[in-house]
Amino acid sequence: MKTFATHSAEETTALGRRLAAELKPGTVVLLRGDLGAGKTTLVKGIAEGFHAAQADDVTSPTFTLIHEYRGPAVTLYHIDLYRIDTQRELDTLALDDLMTPHSILLIEWGEKFERFVRERDVEIVIEHKGGDERLVKIG
Ligand SMILES: Nc1ncnc2c1ncn2[C@@H]1O[C@H](COP(=O)(O)OP(=O)(O)O)[C@@H](O)[C@H]1O
Ligand SMILES: [Mg+2]
Repeated sequence: MKTFATHSAEETTALGRRLAAELKPGTVVLLRGDLGAGKTTLVKGIAEGFHAAQADDVTSPTFTLIHEYRGPAVTLYHIDLYRIDTQRELDTLALDDLMTPHSILLIEWGEKFERFVRERDVEIVIEHKGGDERLVKIG
C-alpha cells in the first residue's frame, strides 16, 4: 500500500498522471471515498496519463453512468455506480463487455457490489482530511 498526500485538485490530477504509468491494461480499479473526496479528479489525471482525454473533458459519470476515453494503447471506462442500487440495474450496464485486455475500468462506488470488492485488481481510497488536503491510498 502506498499513501500520498495532496493539497489541491491540481496535485491530485498530477498524481493520477503518474499513477497511469503503473496501471496495467485489463484491470479493474475501485475508487473509494466520500462524495467530493476527489475520485473523479484523480481520473482526470489518469486519463491524461494514458493520452486518452484532457482533464477538462473528464466529467463525473454520475448521471451518464459510464464515460469512455480512448487512448492509443488503452481504453478507459470511468463508471459511477452511486445511482445503481440493484443487481438488475447493474446487469443492464453490461460491464463484463467492457472488460477486455485493452481496457481499464475505473469504478466509483463499486464497493456497493460484493463482486467488485472481490474482483478489483487495484483499490484506491481517497480520504478528505479537511480543506484541500487529501490522502490517497493505493493498494
Ligand atoms: N487535494 C484535492 N484533491 C482532489 N480534489 C480536491 C482537492 N482539494 C480540493 N478538491 C476539490 O474537491 C472536489 C472533488 O470532487 P470530485 O473529484 O468530483 O470528487 P468525487 O468524485 O470523489 O465525488 C473538486 O471540487 C476539487 O476541486
Ligand atoms: Mg466522482
